[in-house]
Amino acid sequence: MSHRILLLGAPGAGKGTQSKRLADEYGVEHVTTGDALRANKDMETEYGTPRSFMEAGDLVPDPVVNEIVEAALADADGFVLDGYPRNLEQAEFLSEITDLDAVVFLDVDDEVLVDRLTGRRVCDECGANYHVDFQPPAEAGVCDECGGELIQREDDTEETARERLQVFYENTEPVIEHFRDEGDLVEVDGEATPDDVFARIGDVLDE
Ligand code: AP5
Repeated sequence: MSHRILLLGAPGAGKGTQSKRLADEYGVEHVTTGDALRANKDMETEYGTPRSFMEAGDLVPDPVVNEIVEAALADADGFVLDGYPRNLEQAEFLSEITDLDAVVFLDVDDEVLVDRLTGRRVCDECGANYHVDFQPPAEAGVCDECGGELIQREDDTEETARERLQVFYENTEPVIEHFRDEGDLVEVDGEATPDDVFARIGDVLDE
């Protein structure tokens, strides 16, 4: 059974949703650069703060992100890695610090991605994820888990979502091609309910 799992996909493909479930299922760490950066948005680095890059939909500079991932993986026995690597330089760095047991690509059409991103709401308190149409909370604007307020991420406006998709095609698609060329990539159709996508990922990891 694979325990060092890389989950790749465009913004909104369901990486966060599925990574959390996989990490619970296998009892491993969920390592996510997006959440780590959101928790440290105003951290001063020699390139400025992560906030300025994230709100524009751009990538945060590699040295900042590489350091986060290296520290997280050093402490992890097994992991589901989500949101990294996002370009070939990060992929090269990752190959120097760990081996992977499985690389899964969640494939979702662009217009579905934009709908998912613009409809996403997250809990301000506990970080739980919702969607106004696809995964609504029991009470609008209120987290089912902790009663916290549900807010829209600053980078989930339609304009920034489309910018993030552009950044994905320019920077991250070559990473997917790289793993495909190496014969390491398994592809999963991500256009189904979260339960069905989770079952599909389980099936490919069991093979
Ligand atoms: P990050 O947080 O990683 O964002 P992302 O890759 O754009 O991915 P998302 O979190 O938007 O989507 P997801 O695939 O996790 O989908 P989710 O499960 O939430 O990164 C944010 C920013 O940080 C970047 O833009 C960049 O600036 C910076 N950054 C991060 N990593 C970096 C790196 N390595 N290098 C440089 N910069 C970096 O689902 C989305 C929505 O759809 C939710 O509402 C959910 O409820 C819904 N949904 C999920 N699955 C389904 C389904 N099966 N059916 C219907 N709805 C679904």
